[in-house]
Amino acid sequence: MGQARAQLLASLAAIYLILASTHVTGSITDDLEITWGNAKVVTDSSGQQAIALTLDRSSGSAFHSKNTCLFCRIDIEIKLVPGNSAGTVTTFYMITENAWQFHDEIDIEFLGNSTGQPYTMHTNMYARGQGGREKQYKFDFDPTQDYHKYTIIWNKDWILFLVDDKLYRQIKNNQIYGAPYPSYYPMRLYATIWNADEWATQGGRVKTDWSQAPFTAYFRNYTATSCSQFVNSPLCMPGSGWFDQQLDASRQQQLAQVDSNNKIYDYCTDPRTYKSAPPRECGLN
Ligand SMILES: *[C@@H]1O[C@H](CO)[C@@H](O)[C@H](O)[C@H]1NC(C)=O
Ligand SMILES: *[C@@H]1O[C@H](CO)[C@@H](O)[C@H](O)[C@H]1NC(C)=O
Repeated sequence: MGQARAQLLASLAAIYLILASTHVTGSITDDLEITWGNAKVVTDSSGQQAIALTLDRSSGSAFHSKNTCLFCRIDIEIKLVPGNSAGTVTTFYMITENAWQFHDEIDIEFLGNSTGQPYTMHTNMYARGQGGREKQYKFDFDPTQDYHKYTIIWNKDWILFLVDDKLYRQIKNNQIYGAPYPSYYPMRLYATIWNADEWATQGGRVKTDWSQAPFTAYFRNYTATSCSQFVNSPLCMPGSGWFDQQLDASRQQQLAQVDSNNKIYDYCTDPRTYKSAPPRECGLN
């Protein structure tokens, strides 16, 4: 009996190993689907699969995730367009599929720049069609030289934006105070590159230099960890580290550091967008 059971367990373990290693060697397109323009799967110099999104005069390009999630963590490594990327915008965002005027969205956009000038990471959130929660950051590194990891964590209490595991921004669920927050509809991940030279670089003053086209950004190592049902992942549980009601001291320190060294725009302090008073949550966070 004991021996048969041991054999059964051994063969189950073998099957599990095969399944597990199938996953490891699986294709990037197992989870992501190329949907638009000149996008393709390439092998980068370290032998890893990446999706190359390309912008040329005729078209941008895009991919999206095959699955949706309601509360999850998304990690992806991105290498942005090098050299003169002025006018280009590379995006990485999650969005619901309901009517636009009620849609929810969690956004990261990378605004290109002239050669040698810093990229801008633009972040925003929409809930039930209400946006206008922009904050922008510059990096301490050149995001075009290497891959860097960008993370969105979305649960019922927080939205967190991380760069190379460092916390850049948190949005707290302040629905009880009337602040918008996406809570009810699943989102899908999208990534795009497109031309936005009317506004993207130095307020639209610097245009896309098409003689440098095509412009290419690379994406690799996408992982999505869902928190939606039967929540037992420590990533998704309030009260277990990440999702504690209070950020721990080291995370608060990271935020303070990023706020003083990297933050270049904050809707809460922009009198052009809010003539009377900034939205309620600005005084709460
Ligand atoms: C581009 O570089 C200029 C000059 O350094 C800077 O003011 C601007 O914020 C940068 N980013 C964008 C998107 O224009
Ligand atoms: C892929 O991402 C995961 C999680 O972000 C990380 O642990 C792993 O080291 C990455 N793999 C490679 C090959 O970079």
